[in-house]
Amino acid sequence: MISLRIEEETIEKVRTALDIVEVVGEYVHLKKSGRNYFGLCPFHQEHTPSFSVSPDKQIFHCFGCGMGGNVFTFLMELEGYNFPEAVRVLAEKAHIPVPESETREEGQRQDDLNPLYHGMELLTKLFHYLLVETDYGKPALQYLKERGFSDETIAQYKIGYALDDWDTQTKFLERRQLPLHLFEQVGMLDKRSFDGKRFDRFRNRVMFPIWDTRGRTVAFAGRVLNDQKPKYLNTPESPIFHKGRLLYGYHLARQVIKQRNEVVLFEGYMDVVKASQAGVTNGVASMGTSLTEEQAGLLTRGAEKIIICYDADQAGVDAAFRAASLLEKYGRTIKIARMIDGLDPDDYITRYGAERFRTDVIGASMTITAFRLYYLRKNRNLNDEGDRLRYIDDVLGVLSELPKAVERDHYLRQLADEFSLSLDALKQQQYLIFRRKKRADKAEPPVGRRLPVKKSSLLPAYLSAERHLIAYMLRHEDVANKVRTEIGGSFYDDLHQAIVAYLYAFYEEGLEPDISAFIQKLPDPDLRARVTDIAMIDIDEDVDEQVIQDYIDQMIKHHQVLVIEEKLAAKNEAEKQQDLDTATKLLAEIIELKKDLQNR
Ligand code: CTP
Ligand code: MN
Repeated sequence: MISLRIEEETIEKVRTALDIVEVVGEYVHLKKSGRNYFGLCPFHQEHTPSFSVSPDKQIFHCFGCGMGGNVFTFLMELEGYNFPEAVRVLAEKAHIPVPESETREEGQRQDDLNPLYHGMELLTKLFHYLLVETDYGKPALQYLKERGFSDETIAQYKIGYALDDWDTQTKFLERRQLPLHLFEQVGMLDKRSFDGKRFDRFRNRVMFPIWDTRGRTVAFAGRVLNDQKPKYLNTPESPIFHKGRLLYGYHLARQVIKQRNEVVLFEGYMDVVKASQAGVTNGVASMGTSLTEEQAGLLTRGAEKIIICYDADQAGVDAAFRAASLLEKYGRTIKIARMIDGLDPDDYITRYGAERFRTDVIGASMTITAFRLYYLRKNRNLNDEGDRLRYIDDVLGVLSELPKAVERDHYLRQLADEFSLSLDALKQQQYLIFRRKKRADKAEPPVGRRLPVKKSSLLPAYLSAERHLIAYMLRHEDVANKVRTEIGGSFYDDLHQAIVAYLYAFYEEGLEPDISAFIQKLPDPDLRARVTDIAMIDIDEDVDEQVIQDYIDQMIKHHQVLVIEEKLAAKNEAEKQQDLDTATKLLAEIIELKKDLQNR
């Protein structure tokens, strides 16, 4: 196993050496107000500052979008770094050395990977040189030119060519005394079975370097110069390449994505490169596989709006819907671009030019609903009554899944207008479909992590009590201990339950109250966001025993109310069944519980 872990001790050193106000201040204009700093949230668009940074707690929290965390998670969310990357970048800032060889377990160390990164960089240059400067590269260059790629684009994406030869790369790496086994491990070289000699795996192919978020070449994709199969040869998953965590072209597009607050998601390398040449420079690609949560994270962190521009074939459309529903729960604006059947973005640009691509495809991208309706309509003859009725029924089915009444209304009106139908009748029918569906699947709708957290004043008392208790528990170990003895983990809210479990474990490790350090232990952004939200609650510095006891009592009370409700339901059921013994017994219990409740 190869691991890039950094020692806990170093992480703590870095975390405590830096002031979060300073780090965040490099990205967000902050103003002090009271004990905290405020600014415009970099994670969502807003006009009045609801993004706050607490120097005391060394955390940030946005009251608008709910995002929150410590100095590491800030950089991870904003720059798309993974955790070790964020630590390294910040360590550099704090002038704290991160011994690259820190992991002592069996495993390859970061040091050992350095020659690999170095060699991948050298190979990138070699391939590019071979393509643009040598006669060997001419046919490949010709091929790219025929497909419409300009010299600038080829240079920018460092596209290259691997010779039709067995050992150019092997010898090239050998001459530089780079350890060949590493390049075999990442799939650049192969080994002959009979004598163990290594040879080049990529031959006679156009080479696309694939970069990590920091811009290091971590993989290659090699395309054949004709219609031979397989079209692409890719380097496999390796210690430096995790396909599902990257998006092709991300580091080149990052700046523009931020500026425009918009990112375009393509399927393939060719699409990204060609679109960029056509002026759509905020594009990245999922590299032909289904979008992963990690990739969704990268996309949604960088921009408020995501435009999916997949191939216009059945596979592409299905993939676009899948990607859209994955991205939807992040609470971003999702649009889907539509093209003429069968084309991919690269084909479209070749055929219709850059401007039409920008305006008619990217510029005309539609909401998910509009896109779904468009597909319902295709291949149907709406002049035919049967087809038309089926279409309307399908549309109502789609609309009944929309959570927002205004949105449903918008499309219902459109439908009513188009087919001269009564809006009321459509609404009624839509409602019936909605009811039918709801009964069919009782599944909860997904809850997006970016949905704003409810303001505590609007929360029921027991939830507010839970939040206040946790606020105290985060700052005072003795309060945490008291709560643990009295109610343990019985918090009503699931996130609260998880948070206190982590908190008990945190104190058990012998650690002092420290919100930023605690956040470091939380594996999940939802949990972190909730903790920062709660940590921002203004509570008295001093702990008033009575206040704590009141909160605990409120929670116990709520718990009892739930028990009473359950028993009441059981009693009613028993009465219905004429089981008077049980009913009487339950009634006695209920009376007892109610009495107890009043005394609290
Ligand atoms: N892909 C791959 N291996 C393949 C085929 C596809 O890795 N054998 C991935 C690549 O990331 C590719 C993407 O899927 O870019 C989309 O595939 P496709 O649309 O077939 O390729 P294009 O990028 O459009 O390439 P071209 O235009 O040269 O056919
Ligand atoms: Mn293509």
